Amino acid sequence: MEKYFKIVKDNAISLRSKSVEVPTPISEDIISLVNKMHDYLVASQDPEISKKYKIREGVGLAAPQIGKNIRALVVYYKLYDENGNENGEVDHRLVNPKIISESVRESYLEGGEGCLSVDDEHQGYVYRKFKIQVKAFDVRQMKDVIITARGYEAIVLQHEIDHLNGILFYDHIDKKNPFIVKPDSVRI
Ligand code: NI
Repeated sequence: MEKYFKIVKDNAISLRSKSVEVPTPISEDIISLVNKMHDYLVASQDPEISKKYKIREGVGLAAPQIGKNIRALVVYYKLYDENGNENGEVDHRLVNPKIISESVRESYLEGGEGCLSVDDEHQGYVYRKFKIQVKAFDVRQMKDVIITARGYEAIVLQHEIDHLNGILFYDHIDKKNPFIVKPDSVRI
């Protein structure tokens, strides 16, 4: 099943290595790879497909997670209104993403973070910047973009960008006090 990549786990060297910039102009091979990574996330969120192929549901995927140390990542999830109806989606397919600005304020997910490459549980809060701006080439739009992301979207983007630098979410958890609540931080 070429469509459904094998996701490497957190003992893989590619997850602890710094990924390299993708040369521009972006090749067709890279564009196709990034779109396939996007398709994987969409498939992972379909209960029937995820069950059939035994793949975990994910909202983000970075190239090192499929064993490729190149600076590419995808983020995909649906948005819902207060009545539970679908209300848009977040869809980033980024090559060479770079954080160009970030807030002082931090945020964290109340339930902690997870990762398709991490099977063990690592409990604790992961602090991220509440708001970031990311410059990248977006394969969906086929142009350079500047994304302003806050809250959950910013957290997911930072988690994926970390993968490009060999960092895993649990590296950020305070070992002595995993559930410490920092002043002025935003709980999400
Ligand atoms: Ni991850």
